[in-house]
This record gives sequence, structure tokens and C-alpha cells, in this order.
Amino acid sequence: MEMAQSNALVTGAGHRLGAAIALALAEAGAPVAIHYGRSDQEAEAVRQQILQKGGQAVTLQADLADPNDVDGLMERAADALEGTVRTLVNSAAIFQPGGVRDTTRKSWSRHLAINLTAPTRLMGAFARQFDPGPSPTTERAPHPPRLEGRIINIIDQRIRRPQPGHLAYSTAKAGLWHATQVAAAELAPTITVNAIGPGPILPAPGDPREKFEAIAAATPMQHPGSPNDITAALMFLLSQTYITGEMLCVDGGEHL
Ligand SMILES: NC(=O)c1ccc[n+]([C@@H]2O[C@H](COP(=O)([O-])OP(=O)(O)OC[C@H]3O[C@@H](n4cnc5c(N)ncnc54)[C@H](OP(=O)(O)O)[C@@H]3O)[C@@H](O)[C@H]2O)c1
Repeated sequence: MEMAQSNALVTGAGHRLGAAIALALAEAGAPVAIHYGRSDQEAEAVRQQILQKGGQAVTLQADLADPNDVDGLMERAADALEGTVRTLVNSAAIFQPGGVRDTTRKSWSRHLAINLTAPTRLMGAFARQFDPGPSPTTERAPHPPRLEGRIINIIDQRIRRPQPGHLAYSTAKAGLWHATQVAAAELAPTITVNAIGPGPILPAPGDPREKFEAIAAATPMQHPGSPNDITAALMFLLSQTYITGEMLCVDGGEHL
């Protein structure tokens, strides 16, 4: 599957890591659907950057906490890009504090809706674009169907090394890692499903820079990563045809 011909949908692509991913995919030749929630101007700026470099891009608004928005997004992306979406990158997420004692029902529900239900529903809609492939209970075809699509879920290194606080966030991300592995087993050989586990790449919005620098300094590599580290891992995973159900931690060893 040639990246240059592959339509891609990137969620949360108006800014930060999602924007870097959309730009990297466009640079590789993919027409990109830039999903955003509230960042309409930022998403349009990413689109303009892609167009100026001769690429193709559309912007699509959807509230990932709204089931109706989520369930229509893949079809809207395929319509806007005029063809099957062959790369799905689930990057959008929320990251709000809250521990075991004080996580509210509202925070819990929103984290699960945006960070787990939405990407999982999108994986389902993505997979339904392709032929169903052999069921695990039926005999395998003599010639496996060809690889048609790629899913990359942006998760978090902390699912490998649970940390206190951010209970709802971490639980939703752990669920997404499990869903990634189930989907990898179920959707092969038509679709590969992998994940990236970032560490300290960009400070959480509103967090002081010093806190972020201290977290990064405490990793084995002793410094923060960059969005380029994430896009390099993404491109590596997209270049592979025999890796599925894996998570690459891009975290300076923070998970160790
Ligand atoms: N930054 C890091 O160092 C780091 C570390 C570990 C893991 N990660 C993971 O990497 C991914 C990207 O991180 P980031 O720091 O770039 O994220 P971010 O700045 O927090 O951006 C998240 C994106 O999610 C979208 N989003 C949130 N709620 C939404 C909703 N209800 N509907 C639609 N879109 C919604 C936002 O879109 P709008 O602004 O358009 O609303 C935003 O663009 C996330 O999955 C994050 O958990 C990042």
C-alpha cells in the first residue's frame, strides 16, 4: 500500500502532536482529513500549510464526546477525501487531573468517551470500509487478503508503568491499548493496528514548563522528546507490513 495514495484521517489534528502527524502524513503524500473539535482556526492553518506545499487536505469538525458525531466521522472523511480512508490515527484525547478519591463522574465519563469510546468506534468504522476478511473461526484462505489499511492509536507510556493521579485518563488509555491488541488480532491480515506511547514530548496545556522539564529530566534519557520523534515512529510503523498489535514507547525510557 503506497502512502502517497492513501487517504488519512487524523483526530485532534488542529495543533500540537496531531498537527505534526497530519503534516508528516501530507509530506509523505497522503491526502489528509484534519479532524478538530474546537480549534477551527488552527485546523485551517494546518490545512493551509499542507496546501502551500502542494498537498491535499480537508478539515472536519466533530465533538468526540458526542456519539452521533463520532459515528458519522469516518464516512464524512471518506466523502471529503473522495475515497476510502486507509490510515487512521487516533490522536485526540483529554488529560485532566483526578485521583482515586476525587475523580468526578463527569470527568470519568468524558475521559472514557473521548479517549476510549471514540477511537474504538472509529476503528470499527474504519474496518467496515474494507472486506470483512476471514473470521478467526473459519479456515484461513490459501492466499491471505492484501493489507488494505493501517490504524495507529496514540496512547501513553504510562500504561506500561502506572502512576498516581489522572485515574480516568490512564484507565481510558489502558482500555485503548487493550482494544488496540484485540483489533490487531481481529482485523489482520487486512489491517495492521499499532500504537505509539509518548512520554514527555510537549507540556500539558496549562502546566508550568519547569514541571515538564523536571519530568523529562527524570527519564533515563534525561530530556524531553519532540513531535519529530513521534512522527518518525509513526512513519516507521506505517512502513512495516509485519508488525501489528505493538506499542512503540517514544518516551526516553520513561516507562522503565
Ligand atoms: N503531549 C505529550 O507529551 C503526550 C504525552 C503522552 C501522551 N500523549 C498523547 O498524545 C496525543 C496528542 O497529545 P497532545 O498533547 O498533542 O494533545 P492535546 O494538545 O491535548 O490535544 C488533544 C486534541 O484532542 C482534541 N479533543 C479533545 N477533546 C475533544 C472532543 N471532545 N472532540 C474533539 N476533539 C477533541 C483537541 O481538539 P480541539 O482543540 O480542536 O478541540 C486537541 O486537538 C494524545 O492522545 C495524548 O494523550 C501526549
